[in-house]
Amino acid sequence: MIFTIAIDGPAAAGKGTIARALAAEFGFAHLDSGLLYRAVAAKGGDPIVAAQSLTEADLTRPDLRTLAAGQAASRVATIPEVRAALVAFQRRFARQPGGAVVDGRDIGTAICPEAEVKLYVTASPQVRAHRRWLELGGDEAQVLADVVERDKRDMGRATAPLKAAADALVLDTSAMSVADALDAATRAVRVRLG
Ligand code: CDP
Repeated sequence: MIFTIAIDGPAAAGKGTIARALAAEFGFAHLDSGLLYRAVAAKGGDPIVAAQSLTEADLTRPDLRTLAAGQAASRVATIPEVRAALVAFQRRFARQPGGAVVDGRDIGTAICPEAEVKLYVTASPQVRAHRRWLELGGDEAQVLADVVERDKRDMGRATAPLKAAADALVLDTSAMSVADALDAATRAVRVRLG
């Protein structure tokens, strides 16, 4: 069975939590596509060369989850050649037999517009910054500034900017518990699976 769940949304919206839970629930493979951009930036050197030569080992670096790594990722993610180098791997992953959940910024709009289920997970910048601060610690005002700056760059870039696909189910989790968000997402998948 080929079945893709595409989950897009701004920084720290909870895409990863929903993606991991759906993958476990339905026995699908899961790809966090943000990790690819984080790894490209962390590799250093020419980002286009880094994207073209990315390996599994690059994705296991311990420093990929920091705020700095996220900022660096969103800068290299504006380069069309970097994005192009990562398309085939993500498409293949999304359409693998057995089902896949892929989360990111452009999965439902550019990587896999044919995805059977598209979710756009969002929340207010304050709520998202608070969640990221709970994960990473540090100065919460700085985390908020970081989230806002990254969203602006991700939404404003020319190639595959962050936006909800026209046929995406929008989940605003500002005032929603994780359980409620998961419930809505699971229902959407069940309906499509039939
Ligand atoms: O976890 P968080 O939402 O903070 O970020 P992420 O999903 O790890 O993505 C890091 C950065 O990679 C984003 O700010 C985007 O600039 C870029 N990205 C992208 O351009 N396209 C994707 N499909 C996934 C991430």
